[in-house]
Amino acid sequence: MTADPTLSDRTAPGPANGPAAPPPALLIDLATGLWRSQTLTAAIETGVFATLATGPATAPELAGRLGIADRPAEILLTACTALGLLEQHDGRYRNGPVADHYLVPGRPDYFGDYVRMLAEYTAPGWLRAAEAVRNDAPSKPVPDPDRNMFEEGNRPPFFWDGLRAFSTLTARRMAAVLDLSGVGRILDVGGGAGHTLIELCRQHPQLRGTVLDLPHVCGLAREQIETAGLSGRIGTVGADFFADPLPAGHDAVLLSMILHDWNEEQNRQILASCLEALPSGGTVLISELLVADDKSGPVDAALMSMNMLVGTWGRNYTAAEYAGWLRDAGCPRVRTVRFDAPGANGVVIGVKA
Ligand SMILES: C[S@@+](CC[C@H](N)C(=O)[O-])C[C@H]1O[C@@H](n2cnc3c(N)ncnc32)[C@H](O)[C@@H]1O
Repeated sequence: MTADPTLSDRTAPGPANGPAAPPPALLIDLATGLWRSQTLTAAIETGVFATLATGPATAPELAGRLGIADRPAEILLTACTALGLLEQHDGRYRNGPVADHYLVPGRPDYFGDYVRMLAEYTAPGWLRAAEAVRNDAPSKPVPDPDRNMFEEGNRPPFFWDGLRAFSTLTARRMAAVLDLSGVGRILDVGGGAGHTLIELCRQHPQLRGTVLDLPHVCGLAREQIETAGLSGRIGTVGADFFADPLPAGHDAVLLSMILHDWNEEQNRQILASCLEALPSGGTVLISELLVADDKSGPVDAALMSMNMLVGTWGRNYTAAEYAGWLRDAGCPRVRTVRFDAPGANGVVIGVKA
């Protein structure tokens, strides 16, 4: 007997006497995407990966260690194995390489906080995505829509904790491909809890800099900077980049996942402020998941743009759009360096005249 073909191998029957229909595998994958993300979330929240990091286990053994019934343990372990997170030999389950590196709490690149942030913070907006499409407004509820969505009370602190691995891995790739040897001091505008600048400083020993963010976020950044042992190289400035001038004294300004939160007019305002703070020859670095100039993808940038649709008034822009705004703001020389990371696929770089 031949192995059961997967859905993608099957040719779906067409309507009676009609041509064969395309296989429905794409639709099944898309329609059940929530099942995949919530299997991952459930395994993280119940401690599957943390527990298996202490040693392989059968389903009943894991059920015992987690204090759950055998039935959900078996179902969850089977699903995690099918999704490539776990490996199973002779009925015993262990973490696969991705789970072992990213999903065990306490490991340096622990990704679980990001997954939980998506599940708890962004998911409510996503579940009403059609509303955002119809209304051209965020579908994600915000406690006080009249205030900046990043203000204290409008966004929970675990949003910034959740960005840690996402932003650190992005900064690590950025640091590997960008030549920052000529940069002494960098201003990370909207630098959040400091994860990006901390990683850039770890990778480039000559680098010093400043995280600028709303005052309540700077408190989170100071904790992270101190824990990383970088208080001597990274300072913080609590400010509103729409209302306050940006501090001078830096060779470069970084905007990492900032401009996708805002509309074109607001972005031109932010860029004008950045240029104002830089000396001639200073550099603006825009790090984002860039949408292709022909607006055909790629998937990660296109879906981040959907994420902006449901949660903000912004969207993910193209390198050409950023380049145009940078030129208008006073950077005649603009180029794009491409790379592949969770939070960016390139940096658009403008040099102030
Ligand atoms: C999507 S997060 C990006 C954080 C960080 N750059 C990174 O790559 O991880 C956007 C950041 O912009 C900050 N922000 C939003 N509005 C701001 C404002 N008006 N002034 C200063 N920072 C602001 C938020 O607090 C948040 O930390």
